[in-house]
Order: sequence, then structure tokens, then C-alpha cells
Amino acid sequence: NQDISCIDSCFLQNQTDVPKEFRWPKVELVPAQQELLEPLVDLERFFRGDESAIQQAAELVRAACLTHGFFQVINHGVDSHLINAAYHHLNRFFQLPVTKNLRARKTTLAGLSTLSYSGAHSDRFSSNLPWKETLTFPFKENPNESSVVDLFKSSLGDDFEEMGITYQKYCEGMKSLALSVMELLAISLGVDRLLYKKYFEDGGSIVRCNYYPPCPEPDLTFGTGPHCDTTSLTILHQDEVGGLEIFANNKWQIVRPRHDALVINIGETFTALTNGKYKSCVHRAIVNSERARRSVAFFVCPREDKVVRPPQELVQGERAYPDFTWSDFLHFTQFYYRADVHTLHNFSKW
Ligand code: SIN
Ligand code: FE2
Repeated sequence: NQDISCIDSCFLQNQTDVPKEFRWPKVELVPAQQELLEPLVDLERFFRGDESAIQQAAELVRAACLTHGFFQVINHGVDSHLINAAYHHLNRFFQLPVTKNLRARKTTLAGLSTLSYSGAHSDRFSSNLPWKETLTFPFKENPNESSVVDLFKSSLGDDFEEMGITYQKYCEGMKSLALSVMELLAISLGVDRLLYKKYFEDGGSIVRCNYYPPCPEPDLTFGTGPHCDTTSLTILHQDEVGGLEIFANNKWQIVRPRHDALVINIGETFTALTNGKYKSCVHRAIVNSERARRSVAFFVCPREDKVVRPPQELVQGERAYPDFTWSDFLHFTQFYYRADVHTLHNFSKW
């Protein structure tokens, strides 16, 4: 009997070829054609309240979101030592055999209340599996909810307290940045500056640490297949290995990693809150045969039961999205969502 706690964490690392469940259809495996260079939005003067810099930043963001829903920010206020520390702990976590307990607690995003580990083979019986392992956990600022430190300690033991402390700080930094980005997005849309900030300030967030082991045949699979995020905004940091690609102007484009930059992806909840005006970003991550790759995604969600809607200014003629709560929206997207088709317009008829 093989030690089950080790199947997950060693599974991909022991493969000499790509098992059939991990092979993706050829039509999807089209290579990227070029590098995506823009836009890079410098937030330094935005944070200082410099009105002309704010307008400039808003224009860059607007152009990017009207077309493909992706931009990067620098001088974003999240300490680079904290980002390094997050990777340090992530490495340590993915080097350990993961316990059965942790693995068993896989839940849906909406119901996520604790740490959830997913080895790439957990969904053994489906096809098109991603070549990665993930650790996912919620972040809630409400004092009645468990802190990230408590989640790590209770699931993994005292040895992981430091990891919990680091990720608690990481989440606080990311949430604060997310609210500033919400303000910038509102300015870029010409709506009440605080509208989206108010929608999201009491919402929870979700963190996902991604670990992509080297792959013997990287052209046959994806680390993360093409998709849009269902959440509102994703703030992602990718390590120096690179692999993130964005679908923009009808082709796949490479996002070269920059240690000082954070990637902002518009997710489908935000698209709905702009009445479809801003595009959710179609993206994917490729793997390589040489080096393991890591990334950390911070997903910003509205409070599950809060009713949100696109502002009146963005509704000219037909309103494409009804009032909704995030749990309705997730429910909808989980049943109907297909990464290659924008099914969201059906949401209003649901
Ligand atoms: C994701 O979109 O879920 C991951 C992207 C990445 O690892 O760069
Ligand atoms: Fe994503």
C-alpha cells in the first residue's frame, strides 16, 4: 500500500511523461505569439493624490480593461520583503508531504473556511488536468472569523505559525491595494469614486498559492488552462520563471515576470458590475521542463450575501446583469461556465 499522503505531493514530480489525464486538446495548445508589454501603471503618484497622475493612470487602466482586462502595477505599496517571505514559506510547504487531513478538506470557493490543498491528480477521473499543486485559503477581516494565523496553526501545526503570520500580513497588504485599485477603476469608468470600494471593503478574499513542478513534456499540457477568474479582481505575483499568458488582440501573449510588479486581472464579477463594459481577462499558465514555477493569487470577492449591481451610469438601454449576490454568481458560473465561451450574458436570464 502506497503512502497516500505522498501520492499528491510527489505525483507530478515523479512522472517521466505526461499521463493522459493531463494532456490537453491540440486546438487549445497554441503557443503564444508575442510579449505583452503594456500597460504598466505606476501607483506612486496615485497614492500621493496627484490629480493629473490619477487621470493618466485611469486612462491606461480604462484602455486595458475595455479590450482585455489586464494590467500591471508598480510602486503598489506591498513590501517586496513580504513577497519574498511568502515565496519562502510556499517553497517549504510544497516540499513537504501533505497530510491526509488537509487534503480531505477540499471545498468550494464560496464555502471555503479553511486551508485546502489540491494535488494535481485529485480529480483523477476528469480530463484536462492542470500540471500544478495548489494551497487555497480564505482571508476575512471580520474579527469573528479565524485569522490566517489560526488557520495555518490549526491545520498544519505550530511549525506553520510563521507562514500564517506572513500570509496574514500579505493579505492585509493585498486587500488594501485591492481597495485602491477599486477606486482607480471607478475613476476610470467615470462613476462614484467610492462605489466599488464600498462593495468590496467588507468582503472576504481568497488566496491561492500555485506550485508548478517541472514537466517532462510541457507542450502537451497547461499549468493552468485558459480561463477567466470568476471573482472580481485578482492580484497576482508570479516568480522569475515566468509562464503567465494573456489572450489579447486575438492572440496569446507572454507576460514577462517583473519582481516589482503585481498583475491585476479583471474577473467576471467585476465585468458584471460594469454591465459588461470591462472585459474579464482570459489567461493561462504554461509549464516548462527545467524549473518549478510559483505564483500567488489574491482573489477579491464581495461579501457572499451582499446584493450588488452595476451603477445606473453604466446601464444604457439594456441592463445585461441583474442585481446579484456573489454566492448566486458563483453558483451560476460553476454550472454554466466554460472557459472558451463567454456565457455570462445568460446570467440575466437565469
Ligand atoms: C491562475 O490564473 O490561476 C494562475 C496564473 C499563474 O500562475 O500565473
Ligand atoms: Fe486565473
